Amino acid sequence: MKQDRAAEDGSNARFKSSCSRWRLGSFLLVLHLLVVEAHGNIVQVDEPLTRISFGSCANQSAPQPIWDAVLEFDPNLFIHLGDNIYADIKDPNKYFGKERNVGPFKKTPRFWSISPEALKIKYDLLKHGQPSYVALRKKTQIIGTWDDHDYGLNDAGKEYEGKDASQQVMLDFLDEAPDSPRRKQQGVYAAYTYGPAGKKVKVILLDTRYHRDPIHSDGTMLGEIQWRWFENELRNSDAQIHIIGSSIQVVSNFSAMSQPFFSVESWGMFPSERSRLYAVLRDTNASGVIFISGDVHFGEITRFDCGLTYPVYDITSSGLTEAVEDKAKGFPWSIILTYCSWLLPETMRVHNSRCAVKPCIYGHVNFGTFEINWEAKPVTINVNVRDIHGTPVLGETLCLPDLQPGYFKSKTVRGSHVQRHCTLEYDLPWYRKYILAFNFFAAVTVFVGALVTLLVLGVVRLMRPSKSPTLKED
Ligand SMILES: *[C@@H]1O[C@H](CO)[C@@H](O)[C@H](O)[C@H]1NC(C)=O
Ligand SMILES: *[C@@H]1O[C@H](CO)[C@@H](O)[C@H](O)[C@H]1NC(C)=O
Ligand SMILES: *[C@@H]1O[C@H](CO)[C@@H](O)[C@H](O)[C@H]1NC(C)=O
Repeated sequence: MKQDRAAEDGSNARFKSSCSRWRLGSFLLVLHLLVVEAHGNIVQVDEPLTRISFGSCANQSAPQPIWDAVLEFDPNLFIHLGDNIYADIKDPNKYFGKERNVGPFKKTPRFWSISPEALKIKYDLLKHGQPSYVALRKKTQIIGTWDDHDYGLNDAGKEYEGKDASQQVMLDFLDEAPDSPRRKQQGVYAAYTYGPAGKKVKVILLDTRYHRDPIHSDGTMLGEIQWRWFENELRNSDAQIHIIGSSIQVVSNFSAMSQPFFSVESWGMFPSERSRLYAVLRDTNASGVIFISGDVHFGEITRFDCGLTYPVYDITSSGLTEAVEDKAKGFPWSIILTYCSWLLPETMRVHNSRCAVKPCIYGHVNFGTFEINWEAKPVTINVNVRDIHGTPVLGETLCLPDLQPGYFKSKTVRGSHVQRHCTLEYDLPWYRKYILAFNFFAAVTVFVGALVTLLVLGVVRLMRPSKSPTLKED
């Protein structure tokens, strides 16, 4: 285990150094940005996209100071990755009685959907009510997809009846033109291409809700029409970089390790669909693919080396207001949370000098960023998860040539760059996979054992004084 870690850090260091020789490029980038600045920040077709930011999970009724940091980062483009607002209504947890709404034996739902009119009011709280977001909208192009809470209901899929109404309200929020084909299709998936020939970025946003079969069905995630559209978008693309936005995580399968306590939605929960996703990327020979995702209420960078013939990264940024460590404040929750995240195996998580110590996730409010250096040779892509001040807290520098089909097979890298992130969480031995459950039940056993011991000792003690005086008197 320790050896693995050391080797992994070494690999990331090597990954970095292959890019960091090109300092001149950064200088040119700054110059270039100054030029872009003069034209305002909305990207023109003939200008390459250099600064992108993204985020997810924002409570429209709470203060959202994170937008100040996004504004300061000054992106050309902002991508909403879902839970852009929290539309559904959540009842307080009830653990007992007929109205219990949590746990495996719950009787009533905990989440309730709302009307399209109420949905619009909630979107407006973000669109017109968060001053720094209003400022961002004025200077930056904003695009997005949705996740469950803005779709209308926690963990909802294709069965959700309000989905068509939700789609129109969401597209109003994004200022989609009234005659846009996106309003007539089923679901909010969309693709955008930016930049001149040779420096093109294609952003493909998936809809993981509208067509999704029930969880645990291993059914469809995208639905046949969206699958065909997705394949077409890749096949007919001449972009150098493909950023694929999915509301839920693609690479990490957190649920494989959080059983039986809770499960987190992810592509891993639909193994057949995830295999299909990698197969489509292989079949279309898509190059420069990087996934971005949200949903989980923490930031994380993961990487899978055995899906494509080059490393596929998943940059998770979540949330803009909703973050695990901010919610679990104070003793003992913060300690339990730190312990659990330290304990969990993370075969896909990327470790580097920025977070050499476990667990290498970021549990406070955050947003994600890309800085693409087109002037560098080779082209580099800086990916980061940033904190509320805009300071990078997780990050990697990727070289574009390393994200090309055949990378793992090429002679120059063979031997020096081993595929490391390949073991699926689900394939780990049980004592590692279920380490959370193991710890929990061990703690319960110790606790109950201690209680029983104390009880027995107490009983023995109670019985003694009543016996011994009588014995002594005799
Ligand atoms: C959003 O924030 C408001 C105000 O802090 C709070 O009352 C509400 O419960 C939050 N909603 C969610 C879904 O967390
Ligand atoms: C992810 O974990 C779930 C268990 O929660 C399992 O059913 C599924 O097969 C796993 N997916 C993959 C791709 O390993
Ligand atoms: C796939 O892409 C790689 C690198 O971009 C290229 O070298 C190769 O020729 C392509 N293969 C096909 C079948 O198009």
